[in-house]
Amino acid sequence: MNKLNNKKKSSISNKPRILTGDRPTGPMHLGHYVGSLKNRVKLQDTYDCFFIIADLHMLTTTLSKEKTSKINQLSRGLVLDYLSVGIDPEKCVIYQQSKVPEVAYLSLLFSMLVTVPRCQRVPTLKDVMHDLKIKKPSLGLLTYPVLQAADILMVKGNLVPVGKDQESHVEISREIAKAFNKMYGEVFPVPKALIGDTGTLIGTDGQAKMSKSIGNCIYLSDDQETVNQKVMGMYTDPNRIHPTDPGKAIGNPVFIYHDAFNTNKGEVEDLKDRYKKGKVGDVEVKQKLAKAINNFLDPIRKKRAKYERKTDLINQIIKQGSQKARLEAQQTLNQVLKTMGIKN
Ligand code: TRP
Repeated sequence: MNKLNNKKKSSISNKPRILTGDRPTGPMHLGHYVGSLKNRVKLQDTYDCFFIIADLHMLTTTLSKEKTSKINQLSRGLVLDYLSVGIDPEKCVIYQQSKVPEVAYLSLLFSMLVTVPRCQRVPTLKDVMHDLKIKKPSLGLLTYPVLQAADILMVKGNLVPVGKDQESHVEISREIAKAFNKMYGEVFPVPKALIGDTGTLIGTDGQAKMSKSIGNCIYLSDDQETVNQKVMGMYTDPNRIHPTDPGKAIGNPVFIYHDAFNTNKGEVEDLKDRYKKGKVGDVEVKQKLAKAINNFLDPIRKKRAKYERKTDLINQIIKQGSQKARLEAQQTLNQVLKTMGIKN
């Protein structure tokens, strides 16, 4: 048994390390699947993967007691979403940020290596302040990317698969790794962002992005009837009033979803063709889309059902993953303090 464990450990440690994750702000949707989850399922077979539930990051924008008291419940929900799409705790480490307190210590040390104006220049700060109408950012919000650097560097992550919007945060991590290595000695790899090429999935209302706050999402946990309703209410070509009007398929959310989720490519081409010629009604296009999305979601729903009521099992997955991540964090922090000469 011991031999086997050792073998497993050494084969894992040769692989490049991946760290990425999400804030547990609510259920995950099709946009998350297309943009990141799908890729993670593949990555876990090739890389040594850490997936973080960034609950401390959630506090930067969601601070009410009502929300903070639900952090564990929300985190379990996120794990359920992960498991339902095939992220496998046997292949990767799923952990909760707040269960690894060393990350806060590392973040504090890193905060000395970054200037205030540098943090103020990070574009996501302006975006979040604008979107959430925050006039004066808290220090926690300002140093969001520093905490993220601690997440990444704590496990000595090499690759960080994220959306384009997170690129600037990985850039800060790179700067911190380089600054630390130069000032004290080589401890950290300089992580690289892995930016997906799928782009963001348009919302059901035709807005640029699926977003919980706009309410234009189809969730991985939506049941059949909910999907049917959401799809039937989707935004299509606004200039097409009658089924006999020639319509636009390009840029039309209904067809973007058909392309993303309908595995019957012949059907999609036929629908596009008839749509452009004014030979098909929206109802048929949407009914076929709802069916395709439900087909796509069915295996995800089955997996979810397997875990849904097993709160203990999910707690156990988080606990074990967090123990593994914490061991990494303790080692890294120890090495950091020694390299700085703070610890003998
Ligand atoms: N900031 C990320 C997001 O909002 C979540 C996150 C926290 C993260 N720590 C991370 C992503 C480390 C990648 C690596 O989506």
